Amino acid sequence: MILAVPKETHPGERRVALVPSALPILVKAGFTVLVEQDAGTAAGCLDAAYQDKGAEIVPDRADLYARADVILQVRTPGANPEAGSADIAMLRQGQIVIGLTEPFTDPAITQAVAGTGAVLFSMELIPRISRAQSMDALSSMATLAGYKAVLLAAGNLPKMFPMMMTAAGTIPPAKVFIIGVGVAGLMAIAQARKLGAVVEAYDVRPAVKEQVQSLGAKFVEMELDSEDSEDKGGYAKAMDEEFYRKQRELMSRVVAASDVVITTAAIPGRAAPILVTEEMVKGMAPGSVIVDLAAAGGGNCDLTRPDEMVEAHGVKIFGPTDLPSQMCSDASRMYARNISTLLLNMSKDGLVDIDKDDEIVRGTMVTRGGNVVHPMILEKLEKTA
Ligand code: NAI
Repeated sequence: MILAVPKETHPGERRVALVPSALPILVKAGFTVLVEQDAGTAAGCLDAAYQDKGAEIVPDRADLYARADVILQVRTPGANPEAGSADIAMLRQGQIVIGLTEPFTDPAITQAVAGTGAVLFSMELIPRISRAQSMDALSSMATLAGYKAVLLAAGNLPKMFPMMMTAAGTIPPAKVFIIGVGVAGLMAIAQARKLGAVVEAYDVRPAVKEQVQSLGAKFVEMELDSEDSEDKGGYAKAMDEEFYRKQRELMSRVVAASDVVITTAAIPGRAAPILVTEEMVKGMAPGSVIVDLAAAGGGNCDLTRPDEMVEAHGVKIFGPTDLPSQMCSDASRMYARNISTLLLNMSKDGLVDIDKDDEIVRGTMVTRGGNVVHPMILEKLEKTA
């Protein structure tokens, strides 16, 4: 079968779905690989490097789509609604498309892809089970985002992170508070600790307390009934507004005492909960920094604007949504590993064999045979109908 890697068209997107070093295993598995000209250039992967690993470089995007059996992308049209919609007309019956789809943002795009008869797999829907760990692109990207969030905060804080005893006096360490200790939160804790900050963290899932402590941070205890906060997939469940109100009240003191707050609280398929209000921002010392990693999902802070820096009450609030793309080299390498492992999981002798009984296939397949087939997206479509 022919695999194709188109150049990403989302403004500012520098990642590429396959890096040259990911090719040999796919070629060995029996696939032919086509790469659109310059697809990897922004990520430091030149056409010649792909050719060295056995790929054919295709200058014309329409030609690439026409020849491909499987299209491997970072952002499929769902995750690239404006620039990516032109690609929908090039899809055809039975063609397989794998990539990020933002399945819950605008299910109408998913329906448009379904209308072409293409089989769409969503990298966001990889189940968080052991067997699928090496395919889990959300975790890969969140790892990078957690790391970069700390660097962004450190670069904008008018203080140092580590404690310093100097001839000019002792400088106290920066205080960092991480809200939401999933993949990004854990990485942020580790990174902030490495830079020498004193770190506190909180999550509604009490199970993470030990992990927080093992990284040398303090778990903030709150008198909140959060026993039933985790779903079967290990993700947080949405709580009611009264819960969030109480959480904000209890967290105010910690937020006010922190130089840096990094928020990562996400609920799959829902808007991000508001956990830091403008009142809480007012309580922070001037010069403090908030990095809101949940900006793309609406943000955890009242004042967050996606991809902007808002300065309010002397506090800088960042809402970056493209941190993995800012680290396009490692992000592409990790994503390539994730997507090729998923592909190889459902292939035999260079052919994709879609086994609906496989938990990973069932969990990630969004469209097939002209229809949206994923139950969560069907539910969302029914609600918006
Ligand atoms: P995750 O699902 O592993 O972690 C989110 C954590 O938030 C979970 O541990 C959950 O229990 C916790 N949480 C939910 N509600 C909470 C509440 N009310 N209080 C405290 N904790 C709460 O998600 P992951 O993979 O770590 O991603 C975190 C965020 O980073 C997501 O919003 C994701 O979209 C975002 N992200 C942002 C990027 C960027 O460039 N800005 C890139 C990659 C991810």
